[in-house]
Amino acid sequence: MKGVILAGGLAIRLRPLTWVTNKHLLPVYNKPMIYYPLEAMAKAEIKEVLITSSPDHSGDFETLLKSGEEFGIQLFYAIQENPRGGIAEAIMLAEDFAKGEKILVILGDNIFNFDLKKARDKFEKMGRGAMVFGVRMPTESKQYGVIEINAGNKVLSIEEKPEKPKSDIAQTGIYMYDETVFDKIKNLSPSARGELEVTDLNNIYVKEGTVSCELIDWWIDAGTSHDELLRANNLVAEKVRAGEL
Ligand code: G1P
Repeated sequence: MKGVILAGGLAIRLRPLTWVTNKHLLPVYNKPMIYYPLEAMAKAEIKEVLITSSPDHSGDFETLLKSGEEFGIQLFYAIQENPRGGIAEAIMLAEDFAKGEKILVILGDNIFNFDLKKARDKFEKMGRGAMVFGVRMPTESKQYGVIEINAGNKVLSIEEKPEKPKSDIAQTGIYMYDETVFDKIKNLSPSARGELEVTDLNNIYVKEGTVSCELIDWWIDAGTSHDELLRANNLVAEKVRAGEL
C-alpha cells in the first residue's frame, strides 16, 4: 500500500497567514502541520508517500522534508497545477506512483491519533472497495461530508455539507482506496464549486456497496479556520505534554 498526502490549495480561509506560504507548513505546536499526517503514515508502516502541493510552494516541502529519511519514508513530490482542482483531482496525480497498489490518502492538515496500522490491515483484508473514517460531531457535522452508516458500519450514503444531515458522523480527510480509484476519478465531473469532489468519488464506491466506515474519537482539520488552527495548537500541546501524541 502506498501513501498520498494532499498539501495543495490556496488556503484562502487562513489569510493573511497563507499569503506567502502554504498552510501545511504553518506551525501546530512544535512542528509544521504536515509532520502530523507524515507521522501517521509512518505509524501505518507505509514506506512510500507522494506529497501533492501547488506550484508556488512545492520547493519548500522538499527543503523541509527532503528524502523523508527522518520519517523512515521515501518521499515523492507532485504538483497540482490548478489549486482549485479538488481532492479527487489531486489523488489522480498518484496514478503512476501507485503502480496498481492500494492507497492511503490523508489531507495534509488532518491531525489524529488512532491505530491506523490496524485499520490498514483490516482494509487490506477486505480486498476491494474503500474505507472512510468518521468522527461524531453532534452539532457541526454538516460543515463536512456527512456519512450515514448501518449497524455493521457499512456506508449507506455520504452527502457533502448537507442542509439536513442524515447523521452526526463527519467525514474526515483520511481515505483508503483499492486499485480502481483512478478509473473512478476519470468518470467524475466538477461539482458546483468547480472541484472534483472526494465525496463524489466515495459515492461511486457506496453505489458498489464496498465502503466501510471506521469511527475515530478525535480528529482536527487544522486548516479550516484561524480558530481551528488555534484549537489544533492547544490540543496538540496538551496531548504532547500528556504523552498521548
Ligand atoms: C473536504 C471534503 C469533506 C470532508 C473534509 C474533511 O472538505 O470535501 O467531505 O469532510 O474535507 O476535512 P473541504 O475542506 O474541501 O471543504
